[in-house]
Amino acid sequence: MHVLKTAALCFFMVVQVVGECNIPPSQWCSSEEVARTCQVYQQCKDYIQNTANVPVRFTLYYESLCPACKDFFIEQLYETFQKVGSIMNLTLVPYGNAWEQKIGDQWVFYCQGGKQQCIGNVIETCAINILKNIDVYLPFIHCIENYSGIQPSIAAQGCASQMNIDVAPILKCSTSKMGSDLEHQMAVKTNALQPRHTYVPWVTLNGVHTKAIQQKAVDDLKQLICETYQGGYKPVACSSLKRSVRSYKLNNKPEI
Ligand SMILES: *[C@@H]1O[C@H](CO)[C@@H](O)[C@H](O)[C@H]1NC(C)=O
Ligand SMILES: *[C@@H]1O[C@H](CO)[C@@H](O)[C@H](O)[C@H]1NC(C)=O
Repeated sequence: MHVLKTAALCFFMVVQVVGECNIPPSQWCSSEEVARTCQVYQQCKDYIQNTANVPVRFTLYYESLCPACKDFFIEQLYETFQKVGSIMNLTLVPYGNAWEQKIGDQWVFYCQGGKQQCIGNVIETCAINILKNIDVYLPFIHCIENYSGIQPSIAAQGCASQMNIDVAPILKCSTSKMGSDLEHQMAVKTNALQPRHTYVPWVTLNGVHTKAIQQKAVDDLKQLICETYQGGYKPVACSSLKRSVRSYKLNNKPEI
């Protein structure tokens, strides 16, 4: 009995030492871990639920077979979504600098980079609409984008087989009226941009495009999303900036 009590006491002391709340109250709701440590978990939960806890809307206007779009997709967007996707409301608009014309009852698209670029746009648009779940279509489109100098339909087949995705309905869509109607919706979204886009990739943050937002997105999208998010409990990746990684190495102790 005595041993048990001592053990319990030791355990309690360890918990106390490890979980000391030495953080200013303004930051008590900054993470679930801190809230628990400072014994305000329930209060923070209530507070956060009542605060505008909406994800950051981020929209990428781009086109397939576009080297700058591919770089942004691979170096910033995909990695950021993997880390802080839980606080992002991400929309992809594959249309870019294309233009369209209605011939009969069908929209026809023209692309600066030629026919294959338009085909790539429609394949990605069909993938978004058919796969529906962004956790499925984002890796798929990322894979297509990461193939360079290859026809998008061939890239799509390769990626689909790697990922166990049924590519047939996507390719069928891309050559049908359905695909052309869906791509027209991407054209409408792109043409509605205020200000109008003058290059791709072109981004909006909560519906807004400025030079500063664009620059920040291209330089460090993860940080831009983390800074913009107004809700509580930011993902852990938001606090793992390069600086604290360095101090972890130096001090062998994470910086709080
Ligand atoms: C994401 O944004 C769209 C508008 O772009 C909105 O309709 C939708 O409700 C948002 N989703 C979430 C989960 O906030
Ligand atoms: C992208 O493709 C290259 C080969 O071209 C490959 O080495 C790399 O792992 C791919 N990247 C991702 C994130 O899949």
